[in-house]
Amino acid sequence: MSITSFDVRMGGPLRPKITTLTIEEKKSRREPITCLTAYDYATSRLVDEAGIDMILVGDSLAQVVLGYDNTLPVTMEEMLHHTRAVRRAVKSALLIADMPFASYHESVKEGVHNALRFVKEAGAEAVKVEGGEKRIELVRHILDAEIPVMGHIGLTPQSIHKMGGYKVQGKDLGGIERLIKDAIALDRAGVFTIVLEGLPREVAAMISKEVSAATIGIGAGPDCDGQVLVFHDILNLTFSPPAKFVRRYGDAGTLISKAVEQFRADVASGGYGIWLRQVHAVRDFLVET
Ligand code: KIV
Repeated sequence: MSITSFDVRMGGPLRPKITTLTIEEKKSRREPITCLTAYDYATSRLVDEAGIDMILVGDSLAQVVLGYDNTLPVTMEEMLHHTRAVRRAVKSALLIADMPFASYHESVKEGVHNALRFVKEAGAEAVKVEGGEKRIELVRHILDAEIPVMGHIGLTPQSIHKMGGYKVQGKDLGGIERLIKDAIALDRAGVFTIVLEGLPREVAAMISKEVSAATIGIGAGPDCDGQVLVFHDILNLTFSPPAKFVRRYGDAGTLISKAVEQFRADVASGGYGIWLRQVHAVRDFLVET
């Protein structure tokens, strides 16, 4: 157990709360929107305090935190557990929970029920659903339950088996047409954002111009209204080469390895014990004088 206090907040005053209205305004002012995934208290706090607009508790949790090969195994209970941890950390960013595989595929009723659980039991402010036209009825019902929805089209990882792997979408005329139809259907249904994953830059640009919802790209080129990346990808915490579109902003993998190796070496050599004894001696001296 750590006895370090968690409630001290560093830095300046809190920034204003980001809401779905903030995101809509940013789109209309053509201000780029930022989004990162996060899954736990410590990293969510850092992401929030760094000024990111939206934090997505993505089902990528299955891979980067739980070690599965794809996103399919993660459960509602696991997603709720992590969303609660993120909720405790995040004060300003808009908090979105990802509906996991099988939490909305059997019936609209079950999908709405699970979306409500994210808001009521874990404090999410919006949910993300993969799929376009075929999810419209579900999206409408979730919106009717007063929950904002983020759409997600293109390379949708929950469709890995149907797609035959992680494949860039919209590479032929039929595919482009489908993507445009999906985006327009989601936009008309009233989603506030649409994630565009793994599609050609030109198609993403076209969709971004066409829809009033903000488009958030990942592997979809620079012309979306915002960008989302997986936290572990930008910090070298994924143990595999990143996708081409991922930019690494830091090397937490190396940082952590070095710190842990140093701790191990200090304890093994008796150095940590010496340091502790010195700290205690200084403390005892200060108490006595
Ligand atoms: O689960 C996830 O991390 C996602 C984003 C990459 C959009 O769906």
